[in-house]
Amino acid sequence: MRSRVPSFIMIPSFLSVIIFMFYVFLRSYNHISYLVHPITVFFLIVTMVLLWILESINNLIFRKKLQFLAEEEKRKIFEENEGNYFYRLYKFIFHDPKKMNAGVQKIDHGFDGIIELDNRLPMWWVHLFYLTIVFSAIYFFSYFLMDFSNPYKEYEIAYKNQLKEIEIFEKNTPQVTIENACFKDNLINSGKTLFDENCATCHQSDGSGSIGPNLTDNYWINTIEKDLFKNIFFIIWNGSDRNPTMRAFGKSGEIKGNDIEKISSYVYFINQKSKKPLISKAPQGKKITEWRKI
Ligand code: HEC
Repeated sequence: MRSRVPSFIMIPSFLSVIIFMFYVFLRSYNHISYLVHPITVFFLIVTMVLLWILESINNLIFRKKLQFLAEEEKRKIFEENEGNYFYRLYKFIFHDPKKMNAGVQKIDHGFDGIIELDNRLPMWWVHLFYLTIVFSAIYFFSYFLMDFSNPYKEYEIAYKNQLKEIEIFEKNTPQVTIENACFKDNLINSGKTLFDENCATCHQSDGSGSIGPNLTDNYWINTIEKDLFKNIFFIIWNGSDRNPTMRAFGKSGEIKGNDIEKISSYVYFINQKSKKPLISKAPQGKKITEWRKI
């Protein structure tokens, strides 16, 4: 009775196998996350402790029962159950060192005069071997008949999750408006990328101008705000009243506030901080030297 595997070992082992199967077969359905939830883990630990207590009570009862057995039977049972479960498990896996060399067969090769000892295979080796067979069977089915380990499927799931994350991020981060937008050095690079995509067709990539005016000089057609950065933001948001070719990118929802802040930072940068392009469109509008005074 005592030599069977204790339940507080048996149950977690079974559970791990079940969780492994879940992981392999149902991975694409995201159910695995419930299994490693803190509440599940807590329950598992509580169950283990209860099982351990139950096991101890069981042992106590068994010891009481032993008193009614004959002396000879008692001795045999004690010998079999020497030490705790882990000691017996160790003995089972690595063999009892006392019995290890008893009854080893010798195989005579004959032709080369070498005599081979036919040792028993160690238990840990044999069981590991069985385990690999079970594992390969599960893996074979999951790999060839299901989506497990399919890189395309994996990519699709990761991609979808990422899109979802971006959506959530965009929803939760308030977009910048003209009130709180300001020039930021670290936005210049991403601003340039956006400028190339949305504005370069009319203003050139370096802002030197073609259909639209040169954005790198001090001449401005539209001067609505008293601050250069805000003025740029304003025009990108509202477009130009005089010339609908410069459309209202922000108002129409074509470009979001955060991106307009990036583009404005880039335009501000090429206007104020970087070298002027060698060739540019002739000045249009008024020359502005001090923005605060307009
Ligand atoms: C289809 C062509 C076109 C596109 C695309 C375009 N613009 Fe313009 N932009 C113009 C024109 C034309 C003007 C002149 C408006 C006017 O005369 O009031 C202008 C004016 C401006 C001005 C004001 C210049 C001034 O002197 O008042 C800024 C700043 C500006 N654009 C930035 C941008 C940015 C940033 C983008 C990209 C998001 C962009 N534009 C996209 C054509 C365009």
